[in-house]
Amino acid sequence: MSLKPDYPFGNLPRFPGIADDLFAGRVPDDDACRKLWDKYDMFDNVRAHSRAVAAIAWDLAKMGEKKGIRINSPAVRASALLHDLAKTYCLKYAGAHAMLGASWIIRETGNYNIAQGALLHVHWPWSLPEGEAICCLPILVLYADKRVMHDSFVSLDERFEDLFVRYGHTAKSREGIALSREQAEDIEKRLSLILGANIGDKNFFNNLAARERTL
Ligand SMILES: [Fe+2]
Repeated sequence: MSLKPDYPFGNLPRFPGIADDLFAGRVPDDDACRKLWDKYDMFDNVRAHSRAVAAIAWDLAKMGEKKGIRINSPAVRASALLHDLAKTYCLKYAGAHAMLGASWIIRETGNYNIAQGALLHVHWPWSLPEGEAICCLPILVLYADKRVMHDSFVSLDERFEDLFVRYGHTAKSREGIALSREQAEDIEKRLSLILGANIGDKNFFNNLAARERTL
């Protein structure tokens, strides 16, 4: 896919090194994440959305682990729970919630891996990682976020139709959403191949009863 240089970080090289060690740093558990939700006054609907995203990201991480892929599943889960940490603040006062959230996560946890999941959950600004690397933390969080509308598990089609209605007010925003959709479809194909499952099926995550395993 073509990369748009005006995506945040799109014209920068991949982040060098800061989160190369998957198991570096402290990982907040569910309780600690919930305390951060409280501290940053997250709206209830954003919490419900984050729980559902974490359920999918956790399932994907566990599926990857079963395939022998090196994944820090607790970090994936924490990152998914915290990916919209600054959403409420930005809805109230404006600002870029992915970037602000990432900076808050670094301040609170010192964990750059977890922060990257928040920073990059809207759009991955580079070409996609090859092979098993598609199961890296930020991609799992980004993809899980694209399979949740509010707090419901949905297909990419449903999610992006909703995004077009809510945010596609200008040609530029529609172009951005279309690119993100194309990217999410590419991620879905690659993950399905690596994980050996048709994860694009609308009911795939419901079938895994992911919701029952949420907070
Ligand atoms: Fe978000």
